[in-house]
Amino acid sequence: MEMPRLSLMLACSVLMVVMMMMMPTEVSAKRWTVGGNKGWTASVNYTIWAQNITFYKDDWLFFVYDRNQQNVLQVNKTDYESCNENNPIHSWTTGAGRDVVPLNVTKHYYFISGHGFCYGGMKLAVHVLNQPPAPKAAPVKSDSSPSAYSGSQLRYAMAFVAVWTFMSQLF
Ligand SMILES: *[C@@H]1O[C@H](CO)[C@@H](O)[C@H](O)[C@H]1NC(C)=O
Ligand SMILES: *[C@@H]1O[C@H](CO)[C@@H](O)[C@H](O)[C@H]1NC(C)=O
Ligand SMILES: *[C@@H]1O[C@H](CO)[C@@H](O)[C@H](O)[C@H]1NC(C)=O
Ligand SMILES: *[C@@H]1O[C@H](CO)[C@@H](O)[C@H](O)[C@H]1NC(C)=O
Repeated sequence: MEMPRLSLMLACSVLMVVMMMMMPTEVSAKRWTVGGNKGWTASVNYTIWAQNITFYKDDWLFFVYDRNQQNVLQVNKTDYESCNENNPIHSWTTGAGRDVVPLNVTKHYYFISGHGFCYGGMKLAVHVLNQPPAPKAAPVKSDSSPSAYSGSQLRYAMAFVAVWTFMSQLF
C-alpha cells in the first residue's frame, strides 16, 4: 500500500511541476523607483532617467523623497511644461515621503513637485504603453516587483495543493 501511494503522489507532483514550468509566464508589473537610488530630488534629470525605461500599463511608480520639502503632484501637459502647481489633477502626496502611483491607464502622465521644485527640474513625464501581447520566454523580473508570482502561477500552486490533498484522502 505504501509504495503505490508514494509513487502516485510523486508522479502527481512531477506532473504539476511540469505543467507550471510549461505555462507561459505572464509579464509581471514592475515597480519603478523614480530616480533610482537618488529618488525624487532636485539633483536628478528625470527626462534622462525615464528615457531608458519602457513603462507598461499596471506598472507602478515609487516616489521616495524628503516629505518636509517635496511632494508629488500629477498635472496636465501644460502645467508640467510651465511648472504650474496650483491646479493639479491629483496629489499623490500621502505625507510619508513614500508615494506609490499605479500607472493603470495607457496614456501620458505628468508629475511635478510643488513648493517650487519643479523649476529646479523635479518634473517627470511618463508615456505608459499597453503590455506587449506575446511575452518572451523567462522575462526578467526586477527585485522591486511587487509580487514574485503571477496570478496563474498562484492558481496552479493552489491546484497542486488541492490535488495533493485529494490524493492523500484516496489512500
Ligand atoms: C541608458 O542605457 C544605456 C545603454 O544601456 C546606458 O549606457 C545608460 O547608462 C543608461 N542611462 C540611464 C540614465 O540609465
Ligand atoms: C491644464 O490645466 C490648466 C489649468 O491649470 C489649463 O489652463 C490648461 O488649458 C490645461 N491644459 C490642457 C492641455 O488640458
Ligand atoms: C487607477 O488607479 C486609481 C488609484 O488607485 C483609481 O482611482 C482608478 O480608478 C484606477 N483606474 C482604472 C482605470 O483602473
Ligand atoms: C534634462 O536633460 C534633457 C536632455 O539632455 C534636457 O533637454 C533638459 O533640459 C534637462 N532638464 C533639466 C531640468 O535640466
